[in-house]
Amino acid sequence: MYQTIFRPIFFSNQVNPEWLHQRILSFLIWLEKNQKTFPANWILDKISTQHPYEKPRLSQTLWGITFPNPLGLAAGFDKNGVAASMWHRFGFGYAELGTVTKYAQPGNRRPRLFRLPEDEAALNRMGFNNQGSQAVAKCLEKQAESRGEIPWGVNLGKSKITPLEESPKDYVTSFLRLRQWGDYFVINVSSPNTPGLRSLQESSQLKLILEAIQEYNSEQKPILVKIAPELSWDAIGEVLTIANQYQLSGVIATNTTTSRKGLRTKVLPKTGNPISEEAGGISGKPLRDRATEVIHFIYEQTQGQLPIIGVGGIFTADDAWEKITAGASLLQVYTGWIYEGPLMARQVLTGLSQKLDEQGLSHLSEAVGLTHYR
Ligand SMILES: Cc1cc2nc3c(=O)[nH]c(=O)nc-3n(C[C@H](O)[C@H](O)[C@H](O)COP(=O)(O)O)c2cc1C
Repeated sequence: MYQTIFRPIFFSNQVNPEWLHQRILSFLIWLEKNQKTFPANWILDKISTQHPYEKPRLSQTLWGITFPNPLGLAAGFDKNGVAASMWHRFGFGYAELGTVTKYAQPGNRRPRLFRLPEDEAALNRMGFNNQGSQAVAKCLEKQAESRGEIPWGVNLGKSKITPLEESPKDYVTSFLRLRQWGDYFVINVSSPNTPGLRSLQESSQLKLILEAIQEYNSEQKPILVKIAPELSWDAIGEVLTIANQYQLSGVIATNTTTSRKGLRTKVLPKTGNPISEEAGGISGKPLRDRATEVIHFIYEQTQGQLPIIGVGGIFTADDAWEKITAGASLLQVYTGWIYEGPLMARQVLTGLSQKLDEQGLSHLSEAVGLTHYR
């Protein structure tokens, strides 16, 4: 029904993607606020029965945290954590909230989010629009009671107004404000939409941020780094060396790509400009193979010792399986969810269970990195 009725309406030129996104979040906030009364409780019941999120065969335990299934909501969808306690209802095994910055900021000028249906992709240059770490902490505190059983990751970024050399303090402030609410934290140094941010992936810069964060990480929350798909093998190798030095718990591969290679969309209909001249990161199908390649590389380099969260272009169970067998222990999705609709998590999880049967495996953990052993 989503594919034949709702998606054509949602994807029509009349519907602005960012406006639609806001409406979906508003609906979820309404559900959350009214979850004990009719009709919200009835709607939630219906959604939950359609999307069971607990899958013992697919559950993963990493860093002492149990993820009831491996498919998470990727960062950027719920930047302020307003629907944090709702995501398990759609079958997600965890949700990564953010990116959150120290200061509230409006993000880039609109329009800044575009669908590229010919490529089953999206182009965004949102620019970390968010209410700031103080407000997000309050929002998560309010939902703590009704949060459900799934872990929350919190993705941290640098505020636009903070000079690059003051980045460590910026990340630390947000970390301290949100430390209590996140089960794991992500240092995002890979968004293409904050000037200079990607330069923080360079080892001398990244070290300073991780050193500062770990100094305040008395509870030893898992800290991960999210990397860009364009990093060279050498640069990824350096990130892995630093990961080892600063007790990083894992890597998220990958963020959106600045490459426009192979896109069918040549001109962005909304602006009339060539796609090559439009700023922003591409997500969805065009990113899929590169993200998987990066997962392969990290798994090989670390001999499977460093957990990887695989993200980029997952639409189907086949896509998910490819990333798991390349070496990802957990997965995330954003663009695929928009294209495939709310039943996506269920379809991917059912498909993963079938893959295990086909391969004669009893648990998903046996499939992680499988292509490296066969
Ligand atoms: C509109 C939009 C906003 C995003 N915002 C963020 C963000 O704030 N922080 C972040 O780390 N990644 C962000 N991402 C990247 C996603 O988390 C993910 O890494 C990327 O989209 C690839 O996954 P996908 O192909 O499933 O979309 C955003 C992606 C989209 C499409």
